Amino acid sequence: MGELGKCSNQEWLDDVYEKILVKMKAECARVGTMIPYSPKEGRYHDLDGMGGIHNWTNGFWPGMLWQMYEATGDEAYRTAAEGVEERMDEILTDMKGVDHDAGFLFLLSAVADYRKTGNEASLHRGLIAANLLAGRFNPVGNFIRAWGDGLNMNSFFGDGDVSGWMIVDCMMNIPLLYWASEETKDPRFAHIALKHAKTAQRYVVREDGSCNHIVGINPQTGEFSDNPGGQGFEKGSSWSRGQSWAVYGFALSYRHTKDESFLATAKQCAHYCISNMAVNDWLPLVDYRAPEEPRKYDSTAGMITAAGLLEIAEHVGEHEKRFYTEAAFRILRACDEKFANWDPEVDSIMDGGTYFYHDPSGENTEVPIIYADYYLIESVLRLKGKAMFAW
Ligand code: GLY
Repeated sequence: MGELGKCSNQEWLDDVYEKILVKMKAECARVGTMIPYSPKEGRYHDLDGMGGIHNWTNGFWPGMLWQMYEATGDEAYRTAAEGVEERMDEILTDMKGVDHDAGFLFLLSAVADYRKTGNEASLHRGLIAANLLAGRFNPVGNFIRAWGDGLNMNSFFGDGDVSGWMIVDCMMNIPLLYWASEETKDPRFAHIALKHAKTAQRYVVREDGSCNHIVGINPQTGEFSDNPGGQGFEKGSSWSRGQSWAVYGFALSYRHTKDESFLATAKQCAHYCISNMAVNDWLPLVDYRAPEEPRKYDSTAGMITAAGLLEIAEHVGEHEKRFYTEAAFRILRACDEKFANWDPEVDSIMDGGTYFYHDPSGENTEVPIIYADYYLIESVLRLKGKAMFAW
């Protein structure tokens, strides 16, 4: 255990906040309006995610910049974030590139800008993105179609028809619809989000709080068909990043709808994640139901789970908060100790991110991935009372 292993949570938090300030200032100066995904040899590169400008992760860098602008007021962050947002316009004019990840992409860029500055052009971008997301709703099956229409993940799972597939990750996209309804005073967007969340609650979450990644629904009849395997170890296993999307996503649906069942589901998924990490030194494996060896970690799952636990903590009673906050601290601290690189000369903070369990190339296993950093920063700033609410 390092020096800080013995300090209080508050001391750790203050220390890590100072390190984020130094690291992000240096990164912002180097990266500017690039849109990075995962550094190579310590340096970020522009549009290096597998979908180029359409990659679902492209909102995380502007999201980090807006978070830092909120915390520090340093205009360099705002200028870079605005530059990235303009570059992302290309996504909105190419229907082949848009899928359900419009939420991840635009909540952290245009919508964050609009919420912070009131910029009208950003409002329009956010509403176009919300309309594209709403247009993916299948009203017979009450779900938002995940992939397809051009850029998609089909190649990982075969070339079959995915028009009836929804995935747990989308729980983080639908806050774009809740936002659009709040903004336009038109409940249609929120109706779609609510219906999708109910379908996810039914077919994604298992009784013990573990989750399926994918839900297959007959797109013609709306009947449930199956739960194919996804980015985890196998069908029926428990992909940890999917688990973390459920924790945070259901908590957010509770925030926006006040439907108590969503908070109960978020807690159920959270308890499952906490139990699994508690028996593993508070570190996130890639899948909570995979063979003991090889041991593979995914720091992104840890950071997202921690962020989700902090969201839950905002919605529970005074005497229940500590459980979720303390668990978040333990995960953040364990991952900091094992995976963080605070050298300001090196791009990215968190190593140890894994995109999917089965990765023959090894290039996407235990590497730095930008959204681990986004959720780390969001969590630390939230604990410091300096975060921008982005969802
Ligand atoms: N949303 C895609 C992933 O979590 O890998």
